[in-house]
Amino acid sequence: MVVPARATDSVPVIDIAALESAEALAAIDGACRDWGFFQVTGHGIDDAIIDGLFDAARAFFARPLDEKRRILRDADNPWGFYDEELTKNTRDWKQVFDYGPGDGDRLVPRWPADLPGFRDAVLAWHEACESLAQRLLSAIAANLGAPPGKLNAQFGDDHTSFMRLNFYPKCPPGATADAAFGVNEHSDAGALTILLQDDQAGLEVCRDGEWHLVEPRRDALVINIGDMAQVWSNDRYQAALHRVVTNSDRDRYSSPYFFNPSYDTNYAPLPSCVSETNPARYRPINWREFRTARADGDYADYGAEVQITDYRIE
Ligand code: OGA
Ligand code: NI
Repeated sequence: MVVPARATDSVPVIDIAALESAEALAAIDGACRDWGFFQVTGHGIDDAIIDGLFDAARAFFARPLDEKRRILRDADNPWGFYDEELTKNTRDWKQVFDYGPGDGDRLVPRWPADLPGFRDAVLAWHEACESLAQRLLSAIAANLGAPPGKLNAQFGDDHTSFMRLNFYPKCPPGATADAAFGVNEHSDAGALTILLQDDQAGLEVCRDGEWHLVEPRRDALVINIGDMAQVWSNDRYQAALHRVVTNSDRDRYSSPYFFNPSYDTNYAPLPSCVSETNPARYRPINWREFRTARADGDYADYGAEVQITDYRIE
């Protein structure tokens, strides 16, 4: 049985129109400590880009399954459609489309045929997220006492961010085992995630052992910090567990942008977050190594998924 979320207290909503202001920075710092999640208004991404993305997602996922499978992602090239993802080794009740830039080698974007406007809508959202993510990273770096630009430098031209369209079809009662999720509980591996969700509730975040609904808001984007920010902060911040519950009434659409550094990045607690009385709690982690180990688990049940706690110094 899935115990439904109790909304006793809710994820903070922060206006970031003046992101560099002391007030906004303090609100973000508090949210990263208390929740690992917040919603942002005043983010500056145009409504037309957001509406265009939802239109593109609805049009794509409405296509017959065999057509979507023509652009199936695989272990060599992870861009494209997928409907068999595992999270924590359970099958998710969802379909996804992943887009990331080509790298002139293994990675090649896959696009559905005959879907006018889809590519432009995806690229517009991807580009808007990239600049917002850089701004949010600067704010988080400032809050953690990192020298200006130092963390952003790891997110240069060869950063490994990508975006996903999620489609959670309505789930008729009895269609799956009753513990089924749209996405089982997990934390995101990278630095931070920007998430656009439609007006169908489903995303929940865990705080102090209780699940809280992340209320859909038309005017806001959901931001959550990933494992990497938890490591930088030496556990001052928590990459919160979150999940998506199914519902039997309506389909749900969302689009996360996962902000990830270049593969060569090694990350560890920042010097400003470590002291004699608070020594580093993690060994340095190489992003390529961590990301590769995690991605393998998306395709097959290889036992316990790799976690940053595997890098914890006892
Ligand atoms: C994810 C995720 C939440 C959502 O894809 O990592 O947590 O609401 N998605 O789709
Ligand atoms: Ni997630």
